[in-house]
Amino acid sequence: MKNLDLYAKIEPLIGFYEEYEKLYKLYLKELSYFEVKRVLDVGCGNGSMLVYLQKVYEAKGIDISSSMIEKASKKGVDATCRYLHEVDEKFDALLAVSDVLNYLDTETLRSFFKDVERLLCDGGVFICDINTLFGFCEVTAGSMSVDTDKQFLSIEADFDDDILVTKIILFEKKRQFYTKEQTEILQYYYTVDDIKTSTNLVLLDVKEITLFADKADKNLLIFQKRNR
Ligand SMILES: C[S@@+](CC[C@H](N)C(=O)[O-])C[C@H]1O[C@@H](n2cnc3c(N)ncnc32)[C@H](O)[C@@H]1O
Repeated sequence: MKNLDLYAKIEPLIGFYEEYEKLYKLYLKELSYFEVKRVLDVGCGNGSMLVYLQKVYEAKGIDISSSMIEKASKKGVDATCRYLHEVDEKFDALLAVSDVLNYLDTETLRSFFKDVERLLCDGGVFICDINTLFGFCEVTAGSMSVDTDKQFLSIEADFDDDILVTKIILFEKKRQFYTKEQTEILQYYYTVDDIKTSTNLVLLDVKEITLFADKADKNLLIFQKRNR
């Protein structure tokens, strides 16, 4: 996925690693309440969460960005570039950390959940987080730029009609020239109810998360596969 590969490239320029560490700790705490051996981190990105997971669990990760998987593999974790529908193994827990679900349009979201249900063992858990409306409007929307010796990054994110369109432009100095790469990434706003009605999993709990502001910018959702 080319647009996500550019995101992988600019990630170190954006930072926010401390906030993500806080998010990972929340996931690890929730996971510890369940009987879990095998975990799949869906949309594992650069593999930071997998590093923690593999200390406790049999953990694997997938992502559709080959650049992210390259970064993850350098950390010595088990990560492969694949779509969820290509996975054919059972897990006690599946995770989608840091608004992975917001990258999926409504149709993809439904088929994503079908795969989550297929891959989870009975009693297995699915934990994910989604951006709140506040998170989209007040945290992610807006513009920023980063200027270093060799790179100039511009990000413009507009939230309209429940879709966040993020335009990324990166200039990189190569000797006396600059190369230019650009892309657009779409993210979709979903209410907790939208997510709940996209799946047959049972929603056990919803927790508000304040990661980047003093008001909830994300919701953590904990689902379980069990008879209703
Ligand atoms: C905001 S990043 C989060 C990465 C990682 N989970 C973390 O916490 O650092 C979102 C990730 O989701 C991945 N992604 C987007 N759509 C995906 C899909 N359909 N299947 C798997 N990964 C996906 C992106 O490539 C990106 O790495």
